[in-house]
Amino acid sequence: MVEHSHNEHLIYQGDAIDVLENEIKDGSIDLIFADPPYNIGKNFNGLKDKWATDEDYLKWCYKWMDLCVNKLKPSGSFYIMTSTQYMPFFDIYLRSKIEILSRIVWSYDSSGVQARSFYGSMYEPILFCVKDKKNYTFNSDDIKVEAKTGAKRKLIDYRKDPPQPYNNEKVPGNVWNFPRVRYRMAEYENHPTQKPIALLERIIKASSNPNDIVLDPFSGTFTTSYVAKKLGRKSIGIEIDEEFTKIGLRRVQELSELNGEKLNREPKIYEVKNFQQQTLFESYLNDILSEIIIQSKVEFNFDDDNFETDV
Ligand SMILES: C[S@@+](CC[C@H](N)C(=O)[O-])C[C@H]1O[C@@H](n2cnc3c(N)ncnc32)[C@H](O)[C@@H]1O
Repeated sequence: MVEHSHNEHLIYQGDAIDVLENEIKDGSIDLIFADPPYNIGKNFNGLKDKWATDEDYLKWCYKWMDLCVNKLKPSGSFYIMTSTQYMPFFDIYLRSKIEILSRIVWSYDSSGVQARSFYGSMYEPILFCVKDKKNYTFNSDDIKVEAKTGAKRKLIDYRKDPPQPYNNEKVPGNVWNFPRVRYRMAEYENHPTQKPIALLERIIKASSNPNDIVLDPFSGTFTTSYVAKKLGRKSIGIEIDEEFTKIGLRRVQELSELNGEKLNREPKIYEVKNFQQQTLFESYLNDILSEIIIQSKVEFNFDDDNFETDV
């Protein structure tokens, strides 16, 4: 385990269970966002996201979930994600440990090629839990979204006396629409399951206050810590992979170098100088090749609930 500390932002490169058990005090965290491997066969830099059996995966998850619940302050909140097929087990397990207040669907569109012989997965589930439903942070005013009835359709509520226009804003419901992180988006990092900044902004704004401590045990590209910092919260991020940890060091701690190695973001293909010099024929061949790869994923990758087809 390696610890990198910078101002109010801690980064651990290590195993989540080990760090939670040995480095984090019980009852010390305001908000935990956990986005673990989903057990669907993604490749996290060579670490295969697949356990031998469902029971093995769930046993591992129950262990870190218990630890997360212990680390929360009495007023703390816990957001947790996994694939659609494992969320029912998480839900049933957590019911006896913590209060589940919302079952959120993060819904997205896919502009790429989708499954043809079954209904492709277009959402990921998120549980929103609190330790004490009578005492928790929920800054509803900070996350309001447009209410179309009032703001666009300008309808009047005639059930009121006197009749009144509908509100222009509302607290979002439990279906959230945010685009997935795409290759061409400025926030994109080289990681297979990076979560959008917008998703974490809603969660952190709603369920924490400035200076609160936000923890993410499976940080990946450290979106949680990055957003926590932007919003004036403290952060703790844990990630097992060294390369992903370097993304966090650059993104959160703004380090440009680690042990003599430059921590630059990998340039995108269209940012590389000689990309412009590529002949039309080469780019035509590239397009065909990508299409073949995408098609073969769609045809054969039935197991992967979550694959991304367009980059
Ligand atoms: C679903 S991704 C998280 C993505 C992240 N939310 C983001 O926005 O980039 C899960 C991450 O957990 C990491 N991981 C896998 N096993 C781990 C473990 N035992 N301890 C800590 N991190 C682990 C993987 O390397 C991967 O980056």
